[in-house]
Amino acid sequence: MDTRCSSEPVLQSQEFAYPAVHGGDAMAQTSLVIFGASGDLTEHKLVPALFQLFRSGRLPENLRVFGFSRRPYTDETWRAHLRQAAQQTRGIEYEAAAWEAFARRLFYVPGDAHAHPDYERLRALLAQAEGGPANRLYYLATLPDLYIPIAEHLGLAGMAREDGGWRRIIVEKPFGRDLESARRLNRELHAVFQEHQIYRIDHYLGKETAQNILFFRFANAIFEPVWNRRYVDHVQITVAETVDVGRRARYYDQSGVLRDMFQNHLLQLLALVAMEPPVSFNPDAVRNEKAKVLSAIRPIELSQTVRGQYEGYRETEGVAPDSQTATYAALQLYVDTWRWQGVPFYLRSGKMLAEKSSEISLAFQCPPHLLFDFAPTCNLRSNLLTICIQPDEGIHLRFEMKQPGSSWEMRSVNMDFHYRSSFPSERLLDAYERLLLDALNGDASLFTRADEIETAWRIIDPVIQGWQSPAAPPLESYEPYTWGPQAANRLLKNGRTWQHGCCEHGMTPHPQE
Ligand code: BG6
Repeated sequence: MDTRCSSEPVLQSQEFAYPAVHGGDAMAQTSLVIFGASGDLTEHKLVPALFQLFRSGRLPENLRVFGFSRRPYTDETWRAHLRQAAQQTRGIEYEAAAWEAFARRLFYVPGDAHAHPDYERLRALLAQAEGGPANRLYYLATLPDLYIPIAEHLGLAGMAREDGGWRRIIVEKPFGRDLESARRLNRELHAVFQEHQIYRIDHYLGKETAQNILFFRFANAIFEPVWNRRYVDHVQITVAETVDVGRRARYYDQSGVLRDMFQNHLLQLLALVAMEPPVSFNPDAVRNEKAKVLSAIRPIELSQTVRGQYEGYRETEGVAPDSQTATYAALQLYVDTWRWQGVPFYLRSGKMLAEKSSEISLAFQCPPHLLFDFAPTCNLRSNLLTICIQPDEGIHLRFEMKQPGSSWEMRSVNMDFHYRSSFPSERLLDAYERLLLDALNGDASLFTRADEIETAWRIIDPVIQGWQSPAAPPLESYEPYTWGPQAANRLLKNGRTWQHGCCEHGMTPHPQE
């Protein structure tokens, strides 16, 4: 996201003095070029993530960061601006001396994303700074309509050619706003970069707990045998947020929750949960399986969707007074594979909900024969396995136990794993720290491939279109800081209920109407 507003002329002359950041091996020099260097994403996510990597000794010693944007910063003013942002960013352990050492690696190149001479100048500056063969990682952190022009200019300037080191490009979300625009973006990127050079970011894949889904499933022998339609009754994926649309209202009102959260984060989580075991842990083997499972999702029925908008949304600056944009969605879908035939997947996400929590639950079937149904207060609940992506990262298994002292009564208890207690001295890497490191190391496992992105749009586009048609479900209004529209409860059939709050408070079912 580039929040720039300046239309002032760019390309002021600036003295570039690049101190060596390591001694010796010129081949290993690496330049990270951030387009959209004055935007929110750079200030609040990318640079803080780089700083954290630096502090923990993980940032490659030979890496320098070049910000490219129209604002007329100098190295010094950009660094000062970033320092201020870092000090205000939650979760950053700011420390003046460390910042000063880190900031020496930051350089600013004023430039206009549409002006070719600015790329020629950037190329010359990089060559001068690198002093020989070097690797380059380009990061598109601009408004999405600049992605194609930037890629084209990089191509024209010969900056995508891998003739002295690797060249990679990270593309932020949103990757298109529908299938057609995503295809076009893929096409234009492929005209300049090969697929192995393109890293489409979905920061949910960088979250430690999301990565751990694969380890949990495939590094253990006991879960996979029950991970299928024979044992699983249904699956729930919730990504709930307490925040409103805030300063992003203008973007959000054009986008809505399906584009903002479902097409990417929720479907990626679903892919990790539902995919078949890959033959190896290499990026393409993993992504092949994710792509396969996404392509097995049956078209979603509009009657199985709920859309909501929180009260007060239309009063937000930047939102149309009669906006029909959904800030909440819940839907049921099916994955037509041998493993998942007939198992409903329930997905929901929204802004201004009761809690910030992202979690995935597998609700297991009830035992086939109930020995205990003569118990006077039999309250048997099915087993539930919940993966808490955030905030209290962990995994919980709910099962039934006999209440001590009673004859027949049962109670649900949890077997809990919390990252913070099992790995007390390990700080979980922020998603951007993980993903930046992976891109620098050439590991694309946690990045989305062109076919995955297009398949995800193929799933979501018809729902977006359906919601603009006469067959659309009503836009339900919901009170802020609740669990969204009541209509979402009706989506779940056969006594199923939404699960929530497992991360902090034990497994409590969502209160029903
Ligand atoms: C972004 C969406 O991709 O993810 C935002 O554009 C949303 O609207 C954010 O708030 C949620 O990410 P996280 O990591 O805070 O759950």
